[in-house]
Amino acid sequence: MKNSSQITTRINDQLIVIEGEKAFVPLANFLRNDESLTGTKIVCAEGDCGACTVLIAKDVGPDGKLSFKAVNSCILPLYLIDGAQVVTVEGVGKSSGMNVDLHEVQSKMIDCNGAQCGYCTPGFICAMAGMAEKFKSENKTITEKSAKNYLTGNLCRCTGYLPIIDAMMSVDLNKTELLKDRYHSVAWISEMKRIRSTTVEMKFSDKSIFLPSKLSEALEAKATEPDFRMVAGSTDIGVVVNKGKLSTPKTMALYHIEELGKISHDNNFITVGATVTLTEFEEYVETHLPEMSKLLHIFASPQIKNQATLIGNVVNASPIADTIPFLLVSDAAVELQSSKGSRDVVLKDFYTGYKKLNMDPSEIVTKIRIPVLQKNEKTRLYKVSMRKDLDISAVTFAARIVFDGKKMSQVRIALGGVAATVIRLGDIEKSLIGKDFSESLFENAATSLDQYISPLSDLRASKEYRMLVARNYFKKFANEIGGEL
Ligand SMILES: Cc1cc2nc3c(=O)[nH]c(=O)nc-3n(C[C@H](O)[C@H](O)[C@H](O)COP(=O)(O)OP(=O)(O)OC[C@H]3O[C@@H](n4cnc5c(N)ncnc54)[C@H](O)[C@@H]3O)c2cc1C
Ligand code: FES
Ligand code: FES
Repeated sequence: MKNSSQITTRINDQLIVIEGEKAFVPLANFLRNDESLTGTKIVCAEGDCGACTVLIAKDVGPDGKLSFKAVNSCILPLYLIDGAQVVTVEGVGKSSGMNVDLHEVQSKMIDCNGAQCGYCTPGFICAMAGMAEKFKSENKTITEKSAKNYLTGNLCRCTGYLPIIDAMMSVDLNKTELLKDRYHSVAWISEMKRIRSTTVEMKFSDKSIFLPSKLSEALEAKATEPDFRMVAGSTDIGVVVNKGKLSTPKTMALYHIEELGKISHDNNFITVGATVTLTEFEEYVETHLPEMSKLLHIFASPQIKNQATLIGNVVNASPIADTIPFLLVSDAAVELQSSKGSRDVVLKDFYTGYKKLNMDPSEIVTKIRIPVLQKNEKTRLYKVSMRKDLDISAVTFAARIVFDGKKMSQVRIALGGVAATVIRLGDIEKSLIGKDFSESLFENAATSLDQYISPLSDLRASKEYRMLVARNYFKKFANEIGGEL
């Protein structure tokens, strides 16, 4: 099949073709400046406030209809929406001429007085429409808790959240016309599939965008041009680019490669592909890795998780990344592929220093393999941040113990936010292995922590606070496990 040299997307009812360097522009800027769709606002330009929320469907759901999810368009470059359907706030209600039929979420926002200055309202409306889309499709009931969870990615500085939560809770899903029905088009869905299976190669002066549809093409390109910057969901990269601290002139994204978008499971491993989003992972692990799923409930916001990938979190290698402590204590391994072959690297050996990886520039992370839980093991993951939702951690903790009766036959403990990388506490682990569980052992381990870590102070927390939290994690863990045993 011939390669494409353009990005093709549908925004509300319009088919849009993007050529040249414009493909680097964030979707929010394009909507406002090129399409005059100024309902989408830009406030923080770093994924934090939700004012730029739009709905995106990159795939179809089990019913063969568009699967819409809310995302932050300010950190989403246009080259990441090839073959996607976008719905902006202008396309949530149904308009014909001067008449607008409001969407159920818009009517309820008015009924409940959910807007004062209205600047944040379009973002809330899109997030609310995304929630209605999911809950009606999955026959779920909107509760106060679920409404709050779905709206954690949207900030409002003047109305106050109660009327907005009330609006969401009073949405009548029976009266809600789903966007996946309104925007359903067999012809467009088949065109989307065609676009998603076509390789895109755009070259202009010293810049290029490459969206391979086959892994072999990606590996070949990385072999000849190792300086290709990989971009997955762009929730880390997009922020740094918007701040002017990084430019990505040669960019490769893998979302056209179907095999990398899958999660699979056998008796030994859960295997997650490079383009699997954190929302997809969170839903999958709800039954298989419940502790991980619980932690992901307080990871960023729905908008971020709908776009961000697990592999992006792993490769970004932040010492405060939330998924890494669990992956470290699970002995998860990344699969690295290059044109020369494939190798698995366990996470313990993947991080070699602050944001330094055991990975060659010609390699791509294609998958991560997470060993399945054993029957007789106990795992806990903790995160402390300045606020519970939509905040990056100050200190994280993961512990996994395999029991043989009361005896701890395997012990793995990791801490994040206390060193240049997330670290395993090998010496403490060794001191516990083979012993019968007791809370006092963990209290002693907590007391000895200053021999093994020396946290730093930064804007998230002081070193004293970090040390105290790390010690308290040990006590909390021992107390919870002791109670269960
Ligand atoms: C508002 C906000 C809140 C956030 N909250 C949290 C939080 O609570 N906890 C947390 O841990 N993080 C948080 N983050 C950080 C970020 O969302 C995560 O790290 C996310 O998982 C990154 O995934 P991504 O797909 O967007 O990665 P990208 O930004 O696309 O890429 C991240 C890095 O991975 C590399 N990369 C991606 N894919 C590959 C590949 N296949 N092969 C080789 N390299 C690759 C890229 O080159 C880049 O260096 C937050 C970010 C924002 C903006
Ligand atoms: S403008 Fe704040 S999240 Fe996009
Ligand atoms: S209504 Fe003014 S910021 Fe929300």
